Amino acid sequence: MRVLFATGNQNKVTEASGILSPLGFVVEQLLIGGQVPDLVEPQAEGIEEIAISKLEQAVSLIMGTEFENEALLVEDSGLFIYSLSGFPGPYSSFVQETIGLSGVLSLMSGEKDRGAEFRAVAALSFQGNIMTSTGICRGSISEKISGDSGFGYDPIFIPEETNGRTCAQLSPDEKSLISHRSFALKGVSELLNLPSK
Ligand code: IMP
Repeated sequence: MRVLFATGNQNKVTEASGILSPLGFVVEQLLIGGQVPDLVEPQAEGIEEIAISKLEQAVSLIMGTEFENEALLVEDSGLFIYSLSGFPGPYSSFVQETIGLSGVLSLMSGEKDRGAEFRAVAALSFQGNIMTSTGICRGSISEKISGDSGFGYDPIFIPEETNGRTCAQLSPDEKSLISHRSFALKGVSELLNLPSK
């Protein structure tokens, strides 16, 4: 079964494909007229609200197109740092683009409680139904930037399970076993519960 992923982030498409292909799904980036559709990210407190808003925008964009009857996926994620009361959370993209990873490490300078989590909400629309699933990856913020794989905050996030290695020091398969995106996508794929899976 094909799942069209509405995202401009090619890293997310690659990760989603690695996670969902073994479950029988073919993940493709949604392109309309060869372009990534421009989805407005609303100012919202929660990433679930953001994911649903973007999914509703994407659903309206595919109405009347060849994709109308296909499964459509949107995912929104963020990094939540406990000692900063969940910041940057829904502002994670903005914070990454402005102060960057070194800015986040500066905010954490001298902080003993480095606990944090990645959260992802996958929202999927199929045959008029909208399903959502949340995935969480718990860990901590590193003292320094380490590793070159992955994307975003991966070089400063150490999952609980990886013996001190950041996500950017994991192979794609290692990250997929424990990532917030993996749990969210597997959850939503179970909700689809299709006989063809
Ligand atoms: P969005 O879900 O594309 O809005 O991403 C929010 C922010 O979280 C962006 O700065 C992403 O780079 C970052 N982000 C999302 N998922 C991951 C991940 O798996 N690893 C590292 N950073 C991530």
